[in-house]
Amino acid sequence: MSRSHRITVLAGDGIGPEVMIEALRVLDAVQAKFGFQVTRTEHLVGGAAIDATGHPLPPETVDASEKADAILFGSVGGPKWENLPPDIQPERGALLPLRKHFGLFANLRPGVCLPSLTHASPVKNELIKDGFDVLCVRELTGGVYFGKPKGRHEENGEPVALDTMIYRKSEIERIARVAFTAAMGRDKRLVSVDKANVLASSVLWREVVIEVAKDFPEVQLSHLYVDNAAMQLIRRPGEFDVLVTENLFGDILSDEMAMISGSLGMLPSASLGQRHENGLYFGMYEPSGGSAPDIAGRGIANPIAQILSLAMLLRFSLGETGAADAIDAAVAKAINDGYRTGDIATGAEGEIRVGTAAMGDAILA
Ligand code: NAI
Ligand code: MG
Repeated sequence: MSRSHRITVLAGDGIGPEVMIEALRVLDAVQAKFGFQVTRTEHLVGGAAIDATGHPLPPETVDASEKADAILFGSVGGPKWENLPPDIQPERGALLPLRKHFGLFANLRPGVCLPSLTHASPVKNELIKDGFDVLCVRELTGGVYFGKPKGRHEENGEPVALDTMIYRKSEIERIARVAFTAAMGRDKRLVSVDKANVLASSVLWREVVIEVAKDFPEVQLSHLYVDNAAMQLIRRPGEFDVLVTENLFGDILSDEMAMISGSLGMLPSASLGQRHENGLYFGMYEPSGGSAPDIAGRGIANPIAQILSLAMLLRFSLGETGAADAIDAAVAKAINDGYRTGDIATGAEGEIRVGTAAMGDAILA
């Protein structure tokens, strides 16, 4: 009997459905080639769900995802739904509740720039001439985003607002384990980013990361303060392998890394929850960018971020490593062969300008 898996497909809004079509064609191809089966069901989310049901995250979508091994997510949002109350807006009413509901505490964002695409990066090309390939592991459900107390009040007639940066040992330990495990599958170099010279939560962070490191003696661990990390990423981007950091620092550094890579349309992400006994995670996988309403409906969006998100899903949630490697290699080959959607095209000689579907064709080929 062939291996069988189950996923939910939440395409969402804007370019979401357009790039999802290409990812699903790739999924069909790797299933046939690598001999496994994925049962997939498509469900409403975001603005599309608001239009159909009045709510951005219908219970049916959550129920179906609970029965699945993973969620392949497109993107949500757009001008049409921007002025709705926060809790029924596409992003705040669907994306954040999904992360919370499934306890997706580990956000993995690879920043990758292939040697043939370094011209798309704003950093000096000599710094990334051999390519840029860094994995950022960001803690996603703790820290200052969720810490209590939080809020706003008045003191002596003056408005005061506060947030609390708080981490429990268990929260740091589990994200550190994800990062060390990821490093083991890569170049075995991990940089932990904190602000241990100032913040108590960072002192604990560093202590716990050092403790977890004992279980991963092969991984070379180093520490950077976040301000220095922001500098070093620009100064010597080629020297990083895996970064692990808390929620707020990771939000900022992962955007910096996206910029070094050049195009949002190339970058996938994984948000991982519980790790099962077999070493796989429940996870939600989506492009790093949004629904790109400015180009939606024109068939020109870059499908690569969605396709690489599928590869991460196959790797981390289904354990189909061969298929994941094949997709990564096919994307690299399409780029090296010169295929370019508008976001990564420069008009240079040898480039083949393509739309969404033709990029999908090139990768499938
Ligand atoms: P965006 O990421 O959608 O677009 C930023 C720029 O990047 C645009 O010029 C867009 O055309 C381009 N871009 C993004 N993905 C691309 C692709 N695959 N191929 C080619 N070009 C691409 O961010 P923006 O404009 O800030 O937000 C648009 C909408 O998306 C908003 O409603 C926002 O709330 C939502 N959004 C949703 C996210 C999600 O679903 N996870 C994340 C970020 C934004
Ligand atoms: Mg951000």
